[in-house]
Formats: sequence, structure tokens, C-alpha cells
Amino acid sequence: GGGPPLRVSVVGTGYLGATHAACMAELGFEVLGLDIDQAKIDALTRGELPFHEPGLPELLTQHVQSGRLRFTTSYEEVGAWADVHFIGVGTPQKPGESAADLRFVDAAVRSLAEHITRDALIVGKSTVPVGTAARLKDLLASTRQAAGLPGTVELAWNPEFLREGYAVKDTLTPDRLVAGVESAHAEDILRQVYAKSLAEGTPWIATDFETAELVKVAANAFLATKISFINAFSEITEQVGGDIGTLADAIGHDPRIGRKFLNAGVGFGGGCLPKDIRALQARVSELGLDRTMRFLAEMDDINLRRRDRVVDLAVQVLSHSLHGSVRVAGADGAGSVPSPAAVEILNGAKIAILGVTFKPNSDDVRDSPALDVANRLYTAGAEVAVYDPKGNANAAKRFPRLGYVNTLAKAVIGADLLILLTEWDEFRQMDPEDIGRLMDRRTLIDARNVLDPSPWHAAGFTHAALGHRFAP
Ligand code: UGA
Repeated sequence: GGGPPLRVSVVGTGYLGATHAACMAELGFEVLGLDIDQAKIDALTRGELPFHEPGLPELLTQHVQSGRLRFTTSYEEVGAWADVHFIGVGTPQKPGESAADLRFVDAAVRSLAEHITRDALIVGKSTVPVGTAARLKDLLASTRQAAGLPGTVELAWNPEFLREGYAVKDTLTPDRLVAGVESAHAEDILRQVYAKSLAEGTPWIATDFETAELVKVAANAFLATKISFINAFSEITEQVGGDIGTLADAIGHDPRIGRKFLNAGVGFGGGCLPKDIRALQARVSELGLDRTMRFLAEMDDINLRRRDRVVDLAVQVLSHSLHGSVRVAGADGAGSVPSPAAVEILNGAKIAILGVTFKPNSDDVRDSPALDVANRLYTAGAEVAVYDPKGNANAAKRFPRLGYVNTLAKAVIGADLLILLTEWDEFRQMDPEDIGRLMDRRTLIDARNVLDPSPWHAAGFTHAALGHRFAP
């Protein structure tokens, strides 16, 4: 359209919302970010982000200073002002359940409906169970009717595919844009929002609500499945020998399979993949399709077994190093509790933990396999020294009793065993001789398969890796 640039509001200024708001400002729109948390709004107004995301602080500062990006806690203000309202609030896993907690999305739609006083489009970006948009459409209609306010308000669903660590890039230059819309008008508004990407040739998929909702969970379920697929093969190569990386390379050459997301290791974590596959199972069960997504329960199990495997391997490596024999102490049937023999070996062992975030270039420890492993080793009696370039503070909030240190060197000094759990560049670049000199015993577990074993062997290390048989 040739009219004045759209005014955009973004409801929820967490990871997704803050990124979306700053990127909308970067695209030239006037943006108002809304959150019910006054402290968050104050911090953002000062240009401060409560999480680590490369490139985002610069965008935030620049656009807050220019006045193009502002923040508020007032629904009245955004309701009177914006043409488009994006909803980027969280849909966390319900405590003790698999299903997603939709209370924040519901509250956002209800509050907008009660305060919008002009024509506007509400656009959901949060990840939701299929059927949510249709239900919210009804909620919107009934709330508007009761409120009796001027203006026509429509709903659209526009899922987000950004990865932490690449959030700015993924938002400004997405792989594809998916728009669940019920009118040409709604589609037209969204095409205006994304005009720049569309001009650059980004695929535009306009569809119905259900498809838009499902695209998001299908993508994350597929990614989780790829990771657990290769990790299941790790269980085989760990027993019979073979090289999991070569296997992934070889199948990955087939473009129908593709090499990405076939990196074997301690598995997936974070605020999305684990909760999304659980919420999807819960939703399809609700629909009476109990068998349909049952394979995702298996993917979840494979993923969680990787953590047991690291603890097992720690016992084996330590036992080999201390007693010259490999004791397969194993876990008990339940998986997460080490056996008495394992506890005996782990008790008092000094273990350097490299990495606690769920992936590098992030400070996020939500559902982090690395942090879970660190805590299990600690619980089994090991003395753990945790170092993560960005994650220590968040990890300490979750597990305050682990030992945290602020350099790689401090973590490895006097250690009996080093375990690499998150593949930060700093760890990929370690010099085996430098590290070996600081440690009490030269032993290493590479739980992300990123270190070339030969220089470590040359430096006298006992090297073990996930996806590889441990045969010292
Ligand atoms: C994921 C998706 O990749 C995004 O497309 C999606 O938008 C996002 O969730 C979301 O739903 O908001 P993210 O959680 O940032 O993004 O992290 P990923 O890069 O997908 O990594 C997830 C986990 O898988 C990490 O723990 C990572 O270490 C692990 N992983 C990834 C592997 O173990 N192996 C691999 O080959 C790839």
C-alpha cells in the first residue's frame, strides 16, 4: 500500500517479542512494545536486554534512541494507536503436564479486545496447539461485542521460526513466511509488514489458521526427530564401534536427508523443541489421536537417555583412569539415578563442566541437557566446576549449589575429568597440552563430538565421545 507506514505493537517483550519489536523498528515501522512487567519495560526503555542475543542490543539501542521503538505497560495506549498487534507471549509447558499453558495468549487477546478503539489486526506469533486461533477468534468476537468499542478487529496467525543466537537474522531474513489468514485484508496487512522480505523473494505461504499453527509444531517435531534419529544410531555405534559423524556425513549427502541437525551429542534442549513435542502429543491425544504422535515420546526418551549415557561414560572413564579397568556401572532401570557402584566412583571426583547452556551463543539454560548432566554428577557426589561463557548466572539461579567459575582455566585446574557439554568456540579452540598441564588426570569426554581426538591422544588424554565406543 502507499499509505503511511504501519504502526506496530508487540505484546510480550520476552525473547520472541523483544526481537520482533526491534526488527520491526529496523524495517522502518513505528513500534510500541507492551509487557505487563514494569521492570522489563523500564529495562528495555533504558536499552537493556534481559538475555544474550548477538546483534540485538545494537538494534534496541539505535531504535530506542531514535524514538522509533518505545515500550509501555498500557493496553489503552497500544489499543488506541497501533494498526497491527503482534502477540509474542510465552506458551510454556504446564507444570507437571505435557500440555502448553495458554493463559498468557488468552490474556493478551482478551486485553487487546477490551482496549482497541479503531480498526486493527491482531497477529499471533506464539507457538500454540492447533485449534487455538479458531478459539481465540471466538473469544475476540465475544469480548468485542461486550466491550462495544469502535473499530473492526481481525485475527491472523503468523508463526515464528527464529533460532536463539540467530534471532535477528532469522527475523529479518526468514526462510519462509507463513500467514494463517481469513481475509484478503488481513493478508494485505501482513504483506505490508513483510514487504522487504517479500521483495527479496522469501516464500510467502498464505493459508488457514490450522495449517499455520501446525507448520510451526511440525517443523520443530521434525528437527527434534532428526536429532534423536542420529542419537539413536549413536547407541548402536557406542556398542559395536563405528563413527557417528561419518555416518551423518554420508547420509547427509543425500539431499532428501540433508546433513543439518544430524549432529550427534547430548541432545536437544531449550525453551522450544522439548516443550513443543510434548505439547503436540498432548494436543493430539486430546483430539483422540493417541497413536498419531506416539513416536515423539520415543524421540523424547532417546533424547533424555543421552544424559544417562554421559553420566555412564563419566563413571567408565574415571574408573579406567583410577583403577585401570572400565566399570560399566550404569544407571538403574529408571535411568536418572546412578547405581551405588557409580556413586562410589563419582564421589569426590573433580569434574570440569564446559558449557551449561542448551546450545552455544545463548545464555539460555531452559531444559539444558548440559546443566542436567552437571547437576546429576553433583548429586551423585562429584565436585563439579562449571564454566560457561554466558550461562553461569542463569544456571546458578536454577542450581545454586554447583561450583561455578568464571574462566575455562579455573574449571580445569586439578580436575580428574573434563566434560565438554556445549560446543562454544572457546572450547573447540582448546590446546590439549595447555589443558592437560592444569588437570590432575588427562581425561576427556566430548559430549558434542566437536574435538578432533588425535591431538588429545597425542597429549596423553583418555578421550571418550558420545556416539563412539569407549575402548581405551
Ligand atoms: C528451535 C528451532 O530451530 C527454531 O526454528 C524455532 O523457531 C525455535 O526452536 C522456536 O520454536 O522458537 P532453538 O530452540 O533456538 O530453535 O534451538 P536449535 O538451534 O533448534 O537447537 C535446539 C537444540 O538441539 C539445542 O540444544 C542443540 O544443541 C540441539 N541440536 C541441534 C543437536 O543436538 N544436534 C543438532 O544437530 C542440532
